[in-house]
Amino acid sequence: MTRYFSEADSVETVNARMSPDADARLTEVMAALVKHLHAFVKEVTLTEAEWETAIAFLTRTGQMCSDTRQEFILLSDVLGLSMLVDAVNNRKPAGSTPSTVFGPFHVDGVPEREMGAEISLDGVGEPCLFEGRIVDLDGHPIEGALVDVWSDNADGFYDVQQPDVQPQHNNRGVFRTGADGRYWFTGIKPVSYPIPDDGPVGEMLGHLGRHPYRPAHMHFLVTAPGYDRLITHTFVAGDAYLESDAVFGVKAPLIVDFERCEPSQPGPLWRAKYDFVLPPRG
Ligand code: BEZ
Ligand code: FE
Repeated sequence: MTRYFSEADSVETVNARMSPDADARLTEVMAALVKHLHAFVKEVTLTEAEWETAIAFLTRTGQMCSDTRQEFILLSDVLGLSMLVDAVNNRKPAGSTPSTVFGPFHVDGVPEREMGAEISLDGVGEPCLFEGRIVDLDGHPIEGALVDVWSDNADGFYDVQQPDVQPQHNNRGVFRTGADGRYWFTGIKPVSYPIPDDGPVGEMLGHLGRHPYRPAHMHFLVTAPGYDRLITHTFVAGDAYLESDAVFGVKAPLIVDFERCEPSQPGPLWRAKYDFVLPPRG
């Protein structure tokens, strides 16, 4: 039977065009997307002017993208979509360290450093010791785990955002655990910073009365043979933006008390101790 388009039958009409030979998962995903998009338009009675605004916004979002800027991921982040995709794909057993958003500032291929190394290469900021263990669900140490870390500098920028200002790999490091599962390195106490807000996503946040700030955090990517990969952060307890993170990345178990040491004592001013618990792969 020929189906012409109507408001009442819009979803069925569009979805009926897909070939039965099309990939089954693609068909499932696209059918649901069409269903929800059409329901959205009907729910808000989207005007033609609003549709044009949305198309222009998405066009500018694409035009903002480059090798070093991914405005679409930023859009996904501020809409809570990235955290939701993370949540449905990382339903971990009780006791595991929770994951959070990856963010756009990880760099592949950072050289492995000796355990305990300093990652603040510009020496600016409040020195902080990061330490803890990588353990399994029973608390046993995991040997040979790679602990890949990155954070912003004291001005709230990652090295890749300021290639002419910061040394390459400033506030980044990769460390490998020994038989005791321990990691430790020094860097700086991270500071809160705004996500890149000079594009359409920042403009949208402004229209919505939302700020672009993320609470201070250290990124961790922990991998070990036989265990699930963990992408997460530790957040600085007491940060003003913990409850309003622009990208919704905060989870209570990831908030860490950064301990302030006596300035007269030798060693870093701050200490952040945190153990990461990895479930077995799968
Ligand atoms: C970050 O934490 O590096 C980040 C996450 C999402 C968007 C922008 C930055
Ligand atoms: Fe970050």
